[in-house]
Amino acid sequence: MNPSLERLVLRQPDDWHVHLRDGAMLESVVESTARVFRRAIVMPNLQPPIMSIGGALDYKKRILEALPFGIEFTPLMTAFLSESLSPDVLEQGFEEGVFTAAKLYPFNATTNSDCGVSDLRSIDSLLETMERIDMPLLIHGEVIDSDVDVFDRESVFIDRHLIPLLSRYEGLRVVLEHITTEQAVEFVETSSFRLAATITPHHLHINRNAMFSGGLRSDFYCLPLAKREHHRLALRRAATSGKPCFFLGTDSAPHPRAAKESSCGCAGIFNAAYALESYAEVFEQEGKLSRLEAFASEYGPSFYGLPLNSNKITLTKKPQLVPEAFQLAKDSSVCDSLVPFHAGEILNWRFVSN
Ligand code: DOR
Ligand code: ZN
Repeated sequence: MNPSLERLVLRQPDDWHVHLRDGAMLESVVESTARVFRRAIVMPNLQPPIMSIGGALDYKKRILEALPFGIEFTPLMTAFLSESLSPDVLEQGFEEGVFTAAKLYPFNATTNSDCGVSDLRSIDSLLETMERIDMPLLIHGEVIDSDVDVFDRESVFIDRHLIPLLSRYEGLRVVLEHITTEQAVEFVETSSFRLAATITPHHLHINRNAMFSGGLRSDFYCLPLAKREHHRLALRRAATSGKPCFFLGTDSAPHPRAAKESSCGCAGIFNAAYALESYAEVFEQEGKLSRLEAFASEYGPSFYGLPLNSNKITLTKKPQLVPEAFQLAKDSSVCDSLVPFHAGEILNWRFVSN
């Protein structure tokens, strides 16, 4: 790849954190991810969550059936950790290649996490199993304790839960998902190779002001919340640092517009439609385009112990206007739209092919 050119040819990337949903929403969004990314770690927070081998296989089948003809895409399934999940199921699902990883949602920390974990000690047997079989643990790293300010939820999680957890399970491989703070960046880069972090496009572009610019802007409401500017700058440095512990995970999390704009609006930003262009913009602004390929296509598979993709994709430097909204699938029971991240903005890069 030559960073000075108007055209970037990259090894095809993967998305190491995405919400594809189900039903009509799945049909509306899956192409956005699958046309660009060769594989994706699919989050299990459906309602009910994915907690069985059969449930994961059925969901994977629905994802593959929703793909447009001719697209090659592999969904990598995850198990939703809860007190009621049996270690044997987790182990069998991993050994059979059904589950690639398991996701820890603290109870009620975010969308569809009411089956999440209240007390980490209650899933010790699951974590022991994961450590023994070398199954990656993916963490939504936030506390929801009422004594903690919402903007401190991630840094407090690291102190109260992540540090003790890593010292209890010294062999466990962990991904701290969608990091948003300078503390998380520093913690991950100074930890051992068994800890990594994904970084979303939105946390690289916006700080917390975006949620309140000119009014209450639900399009920018996601969890973990975007933080102060110095945190965003730390994330940009981390993503473009060339350190293998930071890799691409969009956390694209679509919600119909009406669900986001209600009095109790949903958290989540739908960024899949322009995710790679969005990352490219950041890497270019930071003068680090030559590091985009490793962040997007190499460090993730290396962490997961999976082969790198062999095919290439191309981005060209042709500005494009991001639409204000997409109509959701015609047969959708919710006749509604989906607002993409960067709606109404011009992005300089354009994905052209694979
Ligand atoms: O903003 C978010 N939306 N953060 C999450 O952790 C979950 C996600 C969702 O599922 O909507
Ligand atoms: Zn997520």
